[in-house]
Amino acid sequence: MRQILIKGRLLLLALVFMFIASACAKEVAKPTKEERISPPQSEASTNEKIKIGFSMDTLQEERWLRDRDLFKESVEALGAEVVIMAANGDDALQISQAETLISQGVDLLILVPHNAESTATIVHKAHLAGIKVIAYDRLVKNADIDLYVSFDNEKVGEMQAKAMTKLVPKGNYVFIGGAITDNNAHLLKKGVFNVLQPLIEKGDIKIVYDQWTKDWLPANALANMQSALKANGNQIDAVIAANDATAGGVIQALMEQGLAGKVPVAGQDAELAAAQRIVEGTQSMTVYKPIKALTDEAARLAVALAKGETVGEYQKVNNGKIEVPSFLLSPIAVDQLNIDDTIIADGFHSRQDVYKLSGE
Ligand code: GAL
Repeated sequence: MRQILIKGRLLLLALVFMFIASACAKEVAKPTKEERISPPQSEASTNEKIKIGFSMDTLQEERWLRDRDLFKESVEALGAEVVIMAANGDDALQISQAETLISQGVDLLILVPHNAESTATIVHKAHLAGIKVIAYDRLVKNADIDLYVSFDNEKVGEMQAKAMTKLVPKGNYVFIGGAITDNNAHLLKKGVFNVLQPLIEKGDIKIVYDQWTKDWLPANALANMQSALKANGNQIDAVIAANDATAGGVIQALMEQGLAGKVPVAGQDAELAAAQRIVEGTQSMTVYKPIKALTDEAARLAVALAKGETVGEYQKVNNGKIEVPSFLLSPIAVDQLNIDDTIIADGFHSRQDVYKLSGE
């Protein structure tokens, strides 16, 4: 009897012990922080709304406000959601904002870098969290970026130089570049000199001033152009400015010397003020980039990547580390002759605003 009692107690003990052991085993297997932030792609896309993080450099230029609003529309039209942060040109702030988006568990990060080099760390941090990264409009250098979507920025520069050399085949040229931290500024400059170099070598064109514009600020472009005019005794025949904001600074400096409308100026971005200057005659051309096409393409790619789907045919752009799969859209050169058929026809700006028509 005693034997049976002892055996029974032992059995009970064993059962209790096994129960405790299995409970302990379940505790150890809880997922780590990383696993929680980026569950396997397909899982997130099937039962949760895709969440995209959009880290922007700035909202300083007119176009970025449009990129922000249209990208949100494009993403929501695909049934996903987007969290947007803009760093006002501050590198440290952009990195910490990206860290916030990563820790919020976004399914994909899309990035407009202020500084092409320093944002490589964002790509690294996102990948550690299992989050893919798309470079939007501007490339991130020396990083394992997953995709790049933009316009063909070298072509932007070629279009500017072609338009200007048609108007001014010979003479003194000024080049007002973009921000040296922005890879687009380098691509655009390469495009400009693809066209100018042969004419420089022939002696038809002379570059009398060539300067980057810190942070693309119009005030810096104004100061640069004032120095160019002073250094050359106002003997300047044409100016290529990397975008319309800097072109505005250039034209203000020309105006101070009574040269606005006399010296042709090229720009980029089809800002409203630039479109108005083109019809008035103080700016010769701009390069129009239909932002809706870019945001639609970027949203398509972002949601597809977040779902772990394939993204289709692409080009390759070298960023100093890898050949980045890239989608480059075509820009459009605009001057007085085709402004109605391009910017206005697309509703990018209204005819009333461009021609300053009151109550038409
Ligand atoms: C460039 C962009 C241009 C221009 C500029 C200033 O990267 O391609 O459209 O706006 O930034 O923000």
